Amino acid sequence: MNLPIDTHSALKELKEHESLTPRTMPPSFYKDADMVPTEIETLFVNGWVCVGRADEVPKPGDYYTLDMFSEPLIIARNQDGQVSVLSNVCRHRGSQLLSGKGNSKRFTCPYHRWSYDLNGKLLAAPLVDKSEGFDKKQCKLPNFRTHEWWGWLFVNLSGTADSFESQIVGLDTYVQNYHPEEMRSVGAESETWPLNWKCLAENFMEGYHITPVHRDTLHPMTPTKLCEKIPAGAGYTGYKAHYNSSYSGRSQVHPDMTEEERALSMMVWIYPGFVAAVSPNSAVYMSITPTGPTDLQTRWDVIAREQVFEDGEAEERKEFARSFNIEDRERLLDVQKGLSSRFATRGHLAPPDYEGTVWDFYHYMANKLANE
Ligand code: FES
Ligand SMILES: [Fe+2]
Repeated sequence: MNLPIDTHSALKELKEHESLTPRTMPPSFYKDADMVPTEIETLFVNGWVCVGRADEVPKPGDYYTLDMFSEPLIIARNQDGQVSVLSNVCRHRGSQLLSGKGNSKRFTCPYHRWSYDLNGKLLAAPLVDKSEGFDKKQCKLPNFRTHEWWGWLFVNLSGTADSFESQIVGLDTYVQNYHPEEMRSVGAESETWPLNWKCLAENFMEGYHITPVHRDTLHPMTPTKLCEKIPAGAGYTGYKAHYNSSYSGRSQVHPDMTEEERALSMMVWIYPGFVAAVSPNSAVYMSITPTGPTDLQTRWDVIAREQVFEDGEAEERKEFARSFNIEDRERLLDVQKGLSSRFATRGHLAPPDYEGTVWDFYHYMANKLANE
C-alpha cells in the first residue's frame, strides 16, 4: 500500500490510540492520487458495493447495465426469479454484451453473436461450438457474489470480502420497520462529480451542515440540533435525523413503525460507499464510487412506498432530493478547491451527534488501510 505519508500516519494513530480528539484527516486523504488504487481494491472490489435495487428488474429477463471501477456489469433477473450480477464482457474477444436496460431471454454478443442465458451460461457460439477442443462450460460469464438487503443489491467483486451480514450486525433494528423492501425505485440516475468520493459520502452522512446549507430545504424538517448518532458497527454508521415538532411527518407508513420512527429519518452509511436517508414512506440513497482522486460517480435514486406513487408524489420526492443535492454540490466543489490549498490543514470535528459519523468512518478506514 502506498498511501500519502501524513494520511498513513493519521490513520495509524487512529488505529493505535483509543481516545484522540476527533480531527479531520489531512488534505491528502481527499486529493492524493495514491489513495485511489488502494481504495478501489481494498475497500470497493474487496468489499460490498450497492449496484441498485432488486425492484429495478421486477420480471424474469429484466436487466440493466452499469460500469463500476471500469468493470462492466449486468444486473439481471433470471427465470427462477433470482437477481444476479454478471460480467458484461463476452468470453470470446471481450466485447460488451449489453448496454442500457431492457428485457431479454438471452444475452447475445453484438460482435460475433455468441449468446448466453440469464445466468451467464454460454448457449451458442456460431461456427465455434463444434470445433475440437472448444468447451462451452469454460465460457461462462463470471457471476459475482451478491447480497440483497431490504431490496438493495450489493455485490462483492473479489468474492472474498467478509460476509455482508458480519458487516452490519446491529443495523437492521434501525431500518427494518421502515420496510424499504416494499418501496420501489422512482428512477436511478448516474452522475459524475469533480469531487473526492469521501467528501460526498461524509457530507451525506453528517448533520452538522443541514441547518446552514439546507436552510430552506431540509432544515425546516430535520434541523442540525435534532441529530442523534447511533453506535457504529464494523461496516456501518448512522444517525437519527429527528423531525422538528412543527413538521407534520408523513402518512401512509408501514404499520410496524413506532411513534419515534415515524418522526425521524434514519441516516445509514454502509461502508465504503452506500449512503441512505430512510424516511417513513420513502428513501433517498446513493452508491458512491471513486473514479479518480477528485472525481466520483454516484448512482442515486429515490424509492417510495406504493401509496406515494398513487398519490402522485414520487417524482416530487425525487425533485426535492435533487434540490438538496444541488445545494450540497455547490458547497462540496468549493471544499475540494479549498483542500488543494497549500495552507489547508486538519480541522476539528463537531460533537458525535453532528459529525461522529465521519469519525466512525475514519476508524473504518484506519482498520482497512493502516498497516505496519
Ligand atoms: S466478442 Fe463476443 S462473440 Fe466475439
Ligand atoms: Fe447535505
